[in-house]
Amino acid sequence: MKVIIDTDPGIDDAMALLFAHYANDIELLGITTVFGNGTIDTVTQNTLTICEQFQINAPVHQGAGAPLQVAVDPPPAFVHGNDGLGDIDAPKPKGAARNQSAANFIVETILKHPNEITVIGIGRLTNLAIALQQHPAIAQLVKKVVIMGGALGSNAHTGNVTPVAEANIYGDPHAADQVLTAPWPVTLVGLDVTMQCIMHRPQLQKICSAAGAAGRFMWAISRHFESFYSASRGINGFPMHDTCAIAYALAPHLFTTQSGAIRAVTQGISRGQTIMVSPDRKFPAGAWTDAPIQQGCIDIDAAAVLNLFQRVLTRP
Ligand code: BDR
Ligand code: CA
Repeated sequence: MKVIIDTDPGIDDAMALLFAHYANDIELLGITTVFGNGTIDTVTQNTLTICEQFQINAPVHQGAGAPLQVAVDPPPAFVHGNDGLGDIDAPKPKGAARNQSAANFIVETILKHPNEITVIGIGRLTNLAIALQQHPAIAQLVKKVVIMGGALGSNAHTGNVTPVAEANIYGDPHAADQVLTAPWPVTLVGLDVTMQCIMHRPQLQKICSAAGAAGRFMWAISRHFESFYSASRGINGFPMHDTCAIAYALAPHLFTTQSGAIRAVTQGISRGQTIMVSPDRKFPAGAWTDAPIQQGCIDIDAAAVLNLFQRVLTRP
């Protein structure tokens, strides 16, 4: 599977990048960065560091530093640390990002490999929206788009930055609405399933002690993330948000999906909410009428996803 990952490392992004790198079925053609868990400079540096430390040879392309229309929020240091990687004083990268922008790289790569590219977005959707604006025809030429973002209300999960909004969608709601309503096949991997997929400390300890340098790195960066989730949610572990999107690309049978048009609310107190309408429900013509039918994950075999992550990271 030829893959582009659009990301904002970010502790769970870093774990997702390692998962994708070590998964045999993924050919990582490039990594594009977007502001979110840190400033665009921070997340690009973090991506380069991860690539250099773990010999990930994919080119890194820097993307958007701010949302399309709303103001940029300060990075959530309380979740990911001031440096986006749990304040472990990770080495600074020696190399730099390529000159070509993230959106240009996404467009060019999809055009070069028609119907072969899976784009996995695990941050704000700004780069994907810009790519679509630059070259709308990519929507017909991409194989699929998998997004960690949003919440459809399954398993009682509705939001993590507001009662109704998930961070990646809230952070650039206009981009999210453009991406969700474009005529390309999107699967939303939202809090509905990622909050069900908790990596508890005993399994993480097992994985990290068997995964060499990657294990030591994952253990170190995740201390901050784990403290945040145990203090705020009382969980003895943390949700594997971004890993779930990679897992969906690798093993979609581990997820239950529902189809329907999905829109993101762009303003007001519901900003960032993702709302899906099933094709079976009939409403008078309105905001969802012409939106394409997409897929949203509503359930997950969490133990199987965590075991897949474990197998990939600890393979000899
Ligand atoms: C999403 O927001 C970020 O904190 C994580 O990296 C993930 O992509 C979860 O809401
Ligand atoms: Ca992320």
